[in-house]
Amino acid sequence: MFCAGAGAGEEAGPLRRGCAGDRGSEAGGHIGPVSTSVLAQEILPHVTDVPVFVAGGIGRGEAIAAYLEMGASGVQLGTRFAAASESVAHPAFKQAFIRASARDAVASVQLDPRLPVIPVRALKNKGTQDFEATQRTVAAAVSAGELALAEGSCRSSITGPARCAARSSRAMSRPDR
Ligand SMILES: Cc1cc2nc3c(=O)[nH]c(=O)nc-3n(C[C@H](O)[C@H](O)[C@H](O)COP(=O)(O)O)c2cc1C
Repeated sequence: MFCAGAGAGEEAGPLRRGCAGDRGSEAGGHIGPVSTSVLAQEILPHVTDVPVFVAGGIGRGEAIAAYLEMGASGVQLGTRFAAASESVAHPAFKQAFIRASARDAVASVQLDPRLPVIPVRALKNKGTQDFEATQRTVAAAVSAGELALAEGSCRSSITGPARCAARSSRAMSRPDR
């Protein structure tokens, strides 16, 4: 769920900040910890001076109508359109979406509090297992003193290799290096 409008998140109190930053936990992709329906009830009655859009787990017109009735200015749908013929996603990706049921989507878990994980809700597959295995390997290496925590944090993230490469290239391009 998010508010449209410049600076909406920064200017107001905690409720407004939540409005700008949170996405319902039912969404596909990166998620917040709170469900869309709870966020909607917490935010929509109180934030009336900027447009609020609701996102996360919406798949039918009745649900859209309900959020508009509650005061939303609009909604954002992602998963519902991922398998549409207009979508440029790979056909195998679309088929996986079409075959799946709601229970096949899981939020990524953080196995070690030292290694940050931003939760992502996605279909459970080999990538999910690999991500967890990588976290275990990295956590063991950090505990054994074989890997610095900063390096371990970037290696264990979902976008690990890309993030580590970006970090290294930023460090290399610093004038004092
Ligand atoms: C395949 C996929 C990729 C996504 N990629 C991004 C992204 O790169 N950045 C982002 O802010 N949101 C991303 N989202 C989230 C959507 O913008 C949207 O907030 C979310 O899909 C809404 O929830 P829903 O999927 O339940 O409709 C992605 C969603 C999906 C399904």
